[in-house]
Amino acid sequence: MFISFEGVDGSGKSTQINLLKAEIERNGIECVLLEEPGTTLVGLEIRKLLKDYEKVGDLSSVTELLLFAASRSELVDKEIKPVLAEQDKMIIVDRYIDSTLAYQGYGRGFDTDKINYINDIVTQGIKPDLTFLLDCHPFQSIGRINKFRNKDRFETEGLDFYQAIRSGYLEIAKLEPKRIKVINAELPIPDVASIIWDITKSCI
Ligand SMILES: Nc1ncnc2c1ncn2[C@@H]1O[C@H](COP(=O)(O)OP(=O)(O)OP(=O)(O)O)[C@@H](O)[C@H]1O
Ligand SMILES: [Mg+2]
Repeated sequence: MFISFEGVDGSGKSTQINLLKAEIERNGIECVLLEEPGTTLVGLEIRKLLKDYEKVGDLSSVTELLLFAASRSELVDKEIKPVLAEQDKMIIVDRYIDSTLAYQGYGRGFDTDKINYINDIVTQGIKPDLTFLLDCHPFQSIGRINKFRNKDRFETEGLDFYQAIRSGYLEIAKLEPKRIKVINAELPIPDVASIIWDITKSCI
């Protein structure tokens, strides 16, 4: 089984991924965590480029899109495909195809048909069985980030950018209601975790 987590920065993806992994392992199933961009050697270098706003400065929206795509291609080829071939393991990935649609499509205004085309190439058609969209007002998520750490490239954007991404994510979820589950991420952490575990359990 292949699960992806989506949502704006600070919506609680890392928090919930770690809780879900622990719950899955308590039930005797091995679980592999992957991160986008990152995890592979090439992916980690790309992550540095994308995150280091101070050093790299503004990137053209096309460059940004293609860097994410290149990182995803490596992740699918080197990590996702081999793990999926081992039938008894679960994969959780922190961000995947829907992040590109939400951020580069709805956020940056890049044509979503073209993004879908690029996503199809780099994923070799591999889609998650289940996607948790952690939905939360940007006021809340930005507030959580400001409280705990320095901002990266996207986090220097304003509230409008995050509102466009949030509504973009909700549009995407409407198109694929079976795969994408919208979760109210404004609830307390244990409540969100329990909703996510109930849905996962019913799909294992
Ligand atoms: N439901 C929640 N209620 C209140 N605070 C939360 C909730 N979920 C997460 N947090 C807190 O918000 C902060 C950001 O959470 P987290 O790092 O899990 O978000 P994220 O979606 O992984 O962010 P990023 O996209 O930047 O990696 C953390 O300090 C976390 O403890
Ligand atoms: Mg995170």
